[in-house]
Amino acid sequence: MDLVAVLDFGGQYSHLITRRIRECEVYSELLPYSTKSEDLTRLGVKGVILSGGPASVYAKNAPTCDPGIFKLGVPVLGICYGLQLMVDVLGGHVKSTTRSEYGKSLLNVLDDSDLFQSIPSKFVAWMSHGDYAESLPNQFEIIGTSENCKTAAIRNSASQLYGVQFHPEVAHTDHGARIIGNFVRSICGCSPTWTARSIIETATEQIRSSVGDEKVLAAVSGGIDSTTTAVLVQRVTKDKLACIFVNHGLLRKNEEHIVLQSLRQLGLNVHYVDASARFLQKLKGIKESEQKRKVIGEEFIRVFDEESRKLGVFQWLAQGTLYPDVIESAGTGSVASRIKTHHNVGGIPEWSNFKIIEPLRLLYKDEVRKVAAELGIPEALVKSHPFPGPGLAVRIIGEVTEDKVRICKDASAIVEETLKRHGLYESVWQAFAVVGDDLAVGVLGDQRRLGHMVTVRVVQSVDGMTADWTRIPEDVIEEVSSQITGEVPGVTWVAYAVTSKPPSTIEPC
Ligand code: XMP
Repeated sequence: MDLVAVLDFGGQYSHLITRRIRECEVYSELLPYSTKSEDLTRLGVKGVILSGGPASVYAKNAPTCDPGIFKLGVPVLGICYGLQLMVDVLGGHVKSTTRSEYGKSLLNVLDDSDLFQSIPSKFVAWMSHGDYAESLPNQFEIIGTSENCKTAAIRNSASQLYGVQFHPEVAHTDHGARIIGNFVRSICGCSPTWTARSIIETATEQIRSSVGDEKVLAAVSGGIDSTTTAVLVQRVTKDKLACIFVNHGLLRKNEEHIVLQSLRQLGLNVHYVDASARFLQKLKGIKESEQKRKVIGEEFIRVFDEESRKLGVFQWLAQGTLYPDVIESAGTGSVASRIKTHHNVGGIPEWSNFKIIEPLRLLYKDEVRKVAAELGIPEALVKSHPFPGPGLAVRIIGEVTEDKVRICKDASAIVEETLKRHGLYESVWQAFAVVGDDLAVGVLGDQRRLGHMVTVRVVQSVDGMTADWTRIPEDVIEEVSSQITGEVPGVTWVAYAVTSKPPSTIEPC
């Protein structure tokens, strides 16, 4: 399969470049900026992109790349810092500009024969730079300018080296996807082979060759990652896979029934354990959120271990680790194994002898969704909002009590159902209710009464790293509010959260 490597110079959009390339159905990996040209040759790359980054190329200790990359004989595209580095390494000059460009700029195309093929002669591009290429290395020419940058796009045709000062990977750049497509498909000559079907074939082959006839265990939650992992493994290992579904009592309303039914319909062998009483008992008196996560994680491992012993001996544990976690933890883009902690309940105990299989380790979330759809996983599950491993414990501020769990479940169900009724559910990232210990006065008939305050949180996000609160119509908020106060006993006030991330986080604790 053709591969285009993205060398990461620490830019905030580095992952986005990799994702955009993959959207062109070309496989791409994010690698450290220090990757040697020999390693790129060994990987058989058909092209290289140098990402943006916060440094200045002339600063002390600025990250640089192996100069051999420019002699590999494959096309190289430098983006922002990547362009400046290319210019600097190859003998041009980069300096600080007195007219920094941040935000939208109008780009004038001077040559549309390759990188800008089928792109209008003027388009809006997203800029974010305080340096620029004052003079270009030999054999380079300018193929695009902006008002404040005369070297906004450059090229060395003979060596197939390209540079753009703007960010084609961000949505604010018009035709950005086309520019990246032109680079990877036309200039690098990559074939569109990175499709859901080919991902499934590759994962299937890897599972077959590593697991063989041995037995595999998986923890499932009904979430898209664990379900897709289990279905992929099950296609190969058939009855050698056993799935354990632990209900910690902090799931969404009726979720255990819906999940169990869906997983069984998918032909998975699911062992269900209702451990809610155990978890609630363990959480008694604990108010601090990280402590709650720790207790839930530890208890989860205990339950998982006890239940797995009942099912026999397993050599493998299947995990739904995704590509961003692999990169984040390895810090190198290498494929060293690891276990998720924050974004999975538990992980596995250190004493376990499991070998780990992670069929989704090369995938981004949107790719998992495509694979899931191709595997026939029900749409309701594919489109369901992400749900944190510790469940409602991170939506209940302070101690987790039975009463607060009930309120959180019922109120969250109202939020989700109302959004679904208004066709808004799929357009938001997460939507739920939060409950804490704040009490406020309400009236019921002539009676004053104290009740809980519930906060409704609806956010928009691409990957959960940043988020914006959703401006849902006022009448929908009102509908949610009156249904919650009318139908969930013990709630007197409803508030709507209007902070984004940052400064807030998505979950309240
Ligand atoms: P925050 O609250 O950090 O959440 O803005 C970002 C995304 O991560 C989810 N989240 C978690 N997921 N275990 C998980 O599996 C956790 O402990 C956890 N905390 C937050 C959250 O739902 C959001 O999508």
